[in-house]
Formats: sequence, structure tokens, C-alpha cells
Amino acid sequence: MKITKICCIGAGYVGGPTMAVIAQNCPHIQVTVVDLNEQRIADWNDPNPENIPIYEPGLSEIVAEARGRNLFFSTNVDKAIDDAQMIFISVNTPTKTYGKGKGMAADLKYIELCARQIARVAKQNKIVVEKSTLPVRTAEAIKSILDNTGNGVQFQILSNPEFLAEGTAVADLLNPDRILIGGDTTLDGEEAINSLVDVYSNWVSKDRILTTNVWSSELSKLTANAFLAQRISSINAMSELCEKTGADINEVARAIGMDSRIGPKFLKASVGFGGSCFQKDILNLVYIAKSYGLNEVADYWEQVIIMNDHQKRRFSNKIVQTLYNTVADKKITFLGWAFKKDTNDTRESAAIYVADDLINEQAKISVFDPKVSKNKMLSDLDYLETRSREENVKSLNVFENAYEACKDAHAIAILTEWDEFTTYDWQKIYDSMHKPAFVFDGRNILNAKQLESIGFVYKGIGS
Ligand code: UDX
Ligand code: ADP
Repeated sequence: MKITKICCIGAGYVGGPTMAVIAQNCPHIQVTVVDLNEQRIADWNDPNPENIPIYEPGLSEIVAEARGRNLFFSTNVDKAIDDAQMIFISVNTPTKTYGKGKGMAADLKYIELCARQIARVAKQNKIVVEKSTLPVRTAEAIKSILDNTGNGVQFQILSNPEFLAEGTAVADLLNPDRILIGGDTTLDGEEAINSLVDVYSNWVSKDRILTTNVWSSELSKLTANAFLAQRISSINAMSELCEKTGADINEVARAIGMDSRIGPKFLKASVGFGGSCFQKDILNLVYIAKSYGLNEVADYWEQVIIMNDHQKRRFSNKIVQTLYNTVADKKITFLGWAFKKDTNDTRESAAIYVADDLINEQAKISVFDPKVSKNKMLSDLDYLETRSREENVKSLNVFENAYEACKDAHAIAILTEWDEFTTYDWQKIYDSMHKPAFVFDGRNILNAKQLESIGFVYKGIGS
């Protein structure tokens, strides 16, 4: 099937950038991104492309180029499904907060709703592409819903997991390490796979497009995220040992990263990984392993999460201990709230958990983040349900200017590795703070020697 019309359900961090790049590189394909969230669609349609709801370097330019030409954002889900030959499902699959598998399994209610809606609306054969990260064998469930509730038309289900990382989404999409497409090993399945291969071939070379069976594709996504997160927990585990022994984690990371079998990437010790994927996917993997009775496999991967939680807690404990075992009524300034630089996404950001711990110790938290709004920060804290909204409002002060945020602070904590933090006038910041002035660098981005020569007490991770 030659694809000329694509619909994507879900205009989030995955659906939005992915479809923008497909539209940019396939001018002959009409791409419509739909979402139930009217505000989100209105924001994607904002006349000023700078105001689109997701911040990613380079994304607003692509949206400006393709929007209205062959890229459309709409709330009319039924029409977009009906029109399209190929439908991507990019809705959220959060960890379940209720019932069986609570706190571990992926919540598939949004996926199921999409499948039922596609089944109800579709009057012609369709290819349905799973883009959201899903537990293994979800495609089977989608297929069963489509076949049993549909109008007798044929559906092919493909798994096409997204490997983009936020903050580099556009670059990752334009120049992916690989594209993975899983499908049925039948003739119809292969035809569907080829239709999707043709879409990507418009800008990705064929040798980077892998095709597998559906289950391998689904499991590869979970495996990739588990391996990446495991590297971070491994280096973070070593960072604690470094702090006890006098070794320096940056030196250790450099030394092991030069081993070509290990490689240099994903070895940055930090306050702990965040983001919408790592924790969710590993918990999901743990749940799947347990459900097959593979307890050792489950325990092995769960340790990655346990280590990450420990690293976040260790960071807040270190702040309290260093500040003479009390932070009550002290102003502690966070530079950064996003889970990594170059994104406005805060899901599972370490900053949320560190703030929560310190507020429990009655600290007053001030925050500056170049891209995250005050409302977002407050709703992140509210989501933990540790205290009332009023109490969170009283404990969290959000600033538009980093120097203002740091004024009269007892300590500064770096929670996100935004580049601009390294270029600040640290002497000016020092002069405006209470003494001794502490810096807790949760990302090891600042120049320790320079800060110490100004007079700061500097504490990085793993040294
Ligand atoms: C991740 C995967 O990289 C991506 O392939 C998948 O599609 C989705 O999940 P993402 O969560 O967007 O992407 O960002 P990533 O760059 O992987 O960073 C995740 C977290 O790990 C961030 O909090 C980051 O700061 C942290 N991190 C990363 C470290 O602490 N140290 C590192 O060395 C690398
Ligand atoms: P991701 O990071 O996976 O892209 P997001 O939460 O950013 O996740 O985006 C998922 C989007 O999917 C949200 O904007 C949500 O409103 C949308 N969504 C969820 N269920 C449906 C549905 N049944 N129909 C249309 N949109 C949906």
C-alpha cells in the first residue's frame, strides 16, 4: 500500500516531534496529529511556532515549515482515523496507579480506547502502528479488539518503537541509529512492514531500517531502555564508592569509557535519572518477568530502580547533613527542574523528589529553570500527595531570573545540566548568598576549582 495519509493519535512528546519530522521529509504524505486535549491541539496550532507545547531544539522551525502544508493538528479524531491508511498510536502508557500490577504494570486503558475507536470508525483496511512503549504482546490485544469490534475490515498491526531522547528529539529523528519495525510474518504482514519502510526510506538509509517479528520489536524497546538506565545506576553506584574512597567518578568514567567494549556514552554520574521512560519501562519489565515466574530476572532489573531512588535520596540527605543537619527555614535554590537539559518535560525528574525531601525538612525551595513553568513545578509536587497544595505553594518559590533565585540562599543545588548554568557570573552569585555558601552540583557541570577559589563549598557527585 502506498501511504499518502497518516493519522497519529496523541500529540505528546513522541507523537508531535515524530509526525513533524515525517511531514517535513515526506511532502507527499498528509500527516494529521489528533488529541483529545483541546488545549494541547490549540497550542500546536498557535500562530507563533515558538509557542508550541513542547520545547525541543529545532522543532518549532520544522513545524513552521510543514504546518498547514501537509502537517495538521486537530481534535477531530474520528475524521483523521477514517481518512488515513496508516494510524500511529502515540498515547501515554503510564504506570498503573490502581488494581492488579499497581505501581508496576503499564496502564493500557488509553491504548485500548484508541483501538476501540479505530475499530468503530474504520471502513477500509488500515495499518495500525504502535509507537507508544508497550508491554510485550500488546499488539495481540490491539489486534483482538480491532478484529472483534471492527466493521469487518482488515487490520495489520506493526510495532515501531520510538528511540528518540528528549532534548535531542529532532536530531535523533532526522538521523536515527536505527528504525525498528516489527510485524506479522505473513504475506499481508510483510506488505504492511514494507509500507512503513517506504515512509522512513524518504530520509533514512535502508541499512538502518530493521524489521523483526512484533514481539522482538516490543521487547527491544524495553531492553534498550533497561540497558541505558542500568548504565546510569551502575555509574551512580560507583559514585557513592568514590565519595568514600577518594577516587573521582569522572576519572573512573573516562577510564572505563575508553574501553571500546564499554564506550563513553551514558556514564555521567548524576542526581539520578528521570524522564517518562526509564522507570516506567523497567517496572514494566519487572512486572512481565514476575508474571512469567522469573523472579531472579525481575529482581535483577528492579535493582536499577532501587539504586536510582537511593541516589536521589542520598543527594537530599547530603544537603541536610552538610548544612549542619538542619535546613529548616533555610533558602535552598534549585537551578533546573526539568529531567534533563533542552526539554520542558519534568516527568520523574529527580528535582521533584529532592524538593519533596527538603520540604519535609522544612526548607524553603527557590527554583529557576529556563523552560519549566511554576504551575508545572507545583503540579509535580502536588502529584506526590505528600502535603496540601497550600503547603507546597508556601514552600516553593519560582523565579524568572537565576540571580534573583540565588540571592540570600544558603545553598544552591544543580538539578538539571542546562548549559547556561556554567556561564553564570558565580562571583556575583557568591556575593549575594549567605556564608558559608554551598553548591551541590547534582550534574557535575560546574568548575569545582573555580568555585572553590571564589569561596564556595563545592560538593559534586562521586568525588
Ligand atoms: C530515553 C532513551 O534514551 C530513549 O532512547 C527512549 O526513547 C526514551 O527514554 P529520555 O528519557 O528522553 O530518553 O532521555 P535520556 O537522554 O535517555 O536521559 C534519561 C535520564 O538519564 C535523564 O534524567 C538524564 O539526565 C539521565 N542521564 C543520562 C544520566 O544521569 N547520566 C547519563 O550518562 C545519561
Ligand atoms: P508521550 O511522551 O508518550 O508522547 P504524552 O503524555 O506527552 O506522552 O502524550 C500523549 C498524548 O496522548 C496526550 O496529549 C493525551 O491527551 C493523548 N491521548 C491519550 N489518549 C488519547 C485518545 N484516546 N485519543 C486521543 N488522544 C489521546
